[in-house]
Amino acid sequence: MLSGLLLLQAAAIAFAWDTFVVPHTLGDDTPGLLALVTNHSSNATILFDKGKTYNIFTAIKFPVLTNVEIRIEGNLTYPTNISQIQAVVGGSGFPGAWFTFSGGNNVTLRGSTDPKWGWVDGHGQAWWDAVQQVNRPHGWAFSHITNGVIRDMKIWKPVAWNFATSGSVNVRAFNNLIMAVSDTSSFPFNTDGFSAGGTNLLFENNHIVNGDDCLTVGNGAHNITWRNSYCEGGHGLSIGSLGSGGSVADVTNVFIEKTTMKSTLYGARFKSWTGGNGLARNVTWKDITFIDVPFPIYVTQNYWDQGVGPRPNNTNTLNNTHIQDFLFQNFVGVIRDKPYVEGSCVSDPCWYAVANATGREVAILDLYPGTASNVVAKDIFATTETLRPVAVMCNSTTVTNDVGFKCWDGAFIRTKAGL
Ligand SMILES: *[C@@H]1O[C@H](CO)[C@@H](O)[C@H](O)[C@H]1NC(C)=O
Ligand SMILES: *[C@@H]1O[C@H](CO)[C@@H](O)[C@H](O)[C@H]1NC(C)=O
Ligand SMILES: *[C@@H]1O[C@H](CO)[C@@H](O)[C@H](O)[C@H]1NC(C)=O
Ligand SMILES: *[C@@H]1O[C@H](CO)[C@@H](O)[C@H](O)[C@H]1NC(C)=O
Ligand SMILES: *[C@@H]1O[C@H](CO)[C@@H](O)[C@H](O)[C@H]1NC(C)=O
Ligand SMILES: *[C@@H]1O[C@H](CO)[C@@H](O)[C@H](O)[C@H]1NC(C)=O
Ligand SMILES: *[C@@H]1O[C@H](CO)[C@@H](O)[C@H](O)[C@H]1NC(C)=O
Ligand SMILES: *[C@@H]1O[C@H](CO)[C@@H](O)[C@H](O)[C@H]1NC(C)=O
Ligand SMILES: *[C@@H]1O[C@H](CO)[C@@H](O)[C@H](O)[C@H]1NC(C)=O
Ligand SMILES: *[C@@H]1O[C@H](CO)[C@@H](O)[C@H](O)[C@H]1NC(C)=O
Ligand SMILES: *[C@@H]1O[C@H](CO)[C@@H](O)[C@H](O)[C@H]1NC(C)=O
Repeated sequence: MLSGLLLLQAAAIAFAWDTFVVPHTLGDDTPGLLALVTNHSSNATILFDKGKTYNIFTAIKFPVLTNVEIRIEGNLTYPTNISQIQAVVGGSGFPGAWFTFSGGNNVTLRGSTDPKWGWVDGHGQAWWDAVQQVNRPHGWAFSHITNGVIRDMKIWKPVAWNFATSGSVNVRAFNNLIMAVSDTSSFPFNTDGFSAGGTNLLFENNHIVNGDDCLTVGNGAHNITWRNSYCEGGHGLSIGSLGSGGSVADVTNVFIEKTTMKSTLYGARFKSWTGGNGLARNVTWKDITFIDVPFPIYVTQNYWDQGVGPRPNNTNTLNNTHIQDFLFQNFVGVIRDKPYVEGSCVSDPCWYAVANATGREVAILDLYPGTASNVVAKDIFATTETLRPVAVMCNSTTVTNDVGFKCWDGAFIRTKAGL
């Protein structure tokens, strides 16, 4: 009796689900896509067919979706005409990203496992070569989704950031591939991989080659896990920036592990603005392999905009974003201490330059007095490319706990907490 009932329910669910193929035209396929999704915003698979290259020539904002899978088996292409995109992004109705989700439950964004198909091509090369940064189209705003999946997506030469999960709950993003790689000497600016906003988010088995943060954990993020991934060429596994313009930060329980950082500017990175408020608590970076990375561990509570003026003085007259229970554990690799100019450097000194650094620092803790507690780096095993000794920067008047190494601007000397 019971099993009969279950069978009936299973049949009802199976019958309720339909697959709808996105129509492909010679022109812009976005209006057809929008009409289709609007008609079938629940219990449906919206399929981009294999064998077709769909023209996504305008930005799309999806309706609220329930039990919907967006499945990309065909290729998707942005316009190749830069000013055409800029006109859309600069227009009054622009929803904020080229693909914007406006909420829903049980939503899956799924690419193809066929290496030849399922690519989303942003044609970023022309933008990078022209150093064109005006009205750039961000990629996928996977916003306000409860129970979401982002899997098997493949992004080719995106123009701006790729995936953002702001306001989403219970999202798993895995097996995604982002290739923001320039074929020339131009730089893929601001091509962040994943911006983690929201709660209960799991990112795993992602492969990202880009020109900005591989992961960036934003304000309001709670219970974020990132693991088993590969990042190349970008700006690291980052928390922040937090506390901009005096805002109140609230980030808790972030666990980042088992990731290889290849020729990235930073490995693990935290940044909060001078003059911010709030707290970032319980953040762990563990089992990080770094290869050719100038700043494997970099924490600043004194982030500021170099374009606006000199660094604010580190005094107690301003509030700041507090940090508590930060752990960097089992970092193994090679520091890039040979001369280099990272591609995002457009000023002299470069935005990432640290006054008085030797270039051999495995960890730089630029903390704000009285606002950092229990920051520890343990099991750190670093060498430099030139085989010169590894150094650290740390100001002992800014932190009271044993940080795992002698807190000074000098050689890396492990202490009790670092064992
Ligand atoms: C979607 O499917 C569920 C489960 O079969 C069903 O309860 C619900 O009514 C369906 N929604 C729509 C809009 O068809
Ligand atoms: C949407 O639904 C309406 C009404 O059922 C129908 O006339 C129209 O053809 C549908 N459009 C698409 C794109 O499915
Ligand atoms: C959620 O969506 C998936 C497809 O992405 C579907 O198989 C599953 O049945 C949906 N869950 C519910 C509760 O409808
Ligand atoms: C590119 O787009 C702009 C703005 O829409 C348009 O004026 C121009 O003719 C387009 N260029 C080409 C080569 O299509
Ligand atoms: C799909 O797009 C990618 C990226 O542009 C391209 O490399 C691939 O050849 C395309 N696939 C086909 C079958 O055209
Ligand atoms: C944290 O998020 C994961 C999904 O990444 C979930 O499985 C787990 O239950 C969440 N933990 C809490 C305490 O909510
Ligand atoms: C710290 O975060 C981890 C997950 O990242 C969680 O399992 C643990 O319970 C948190 N600890 C506290 C004290 O909140
Ligand atoms: C920081 O303090 C120094 C010395 O008191 C002063 O010259 C400088 O202007 C201050 N910088 C800022 C940004 O306030
Ligand atoms: C500094 O923090 C205190 C206590 O949280 C708060 O009352 C005050 O408004 C903050 N000041 C600024 C300038 O944000
Ligand atoms: C750099 O070192 C010089 C000489 O020791 C010192 O005067 C200066 O304050 C240092 N600058 C910073 C930003 O620590
Ligand atoms: C260390 O921090 C204290 C407190 O902020 C500051 O006064 C001092 O100048 C710093 N020392 C160096 C060498 O930066």
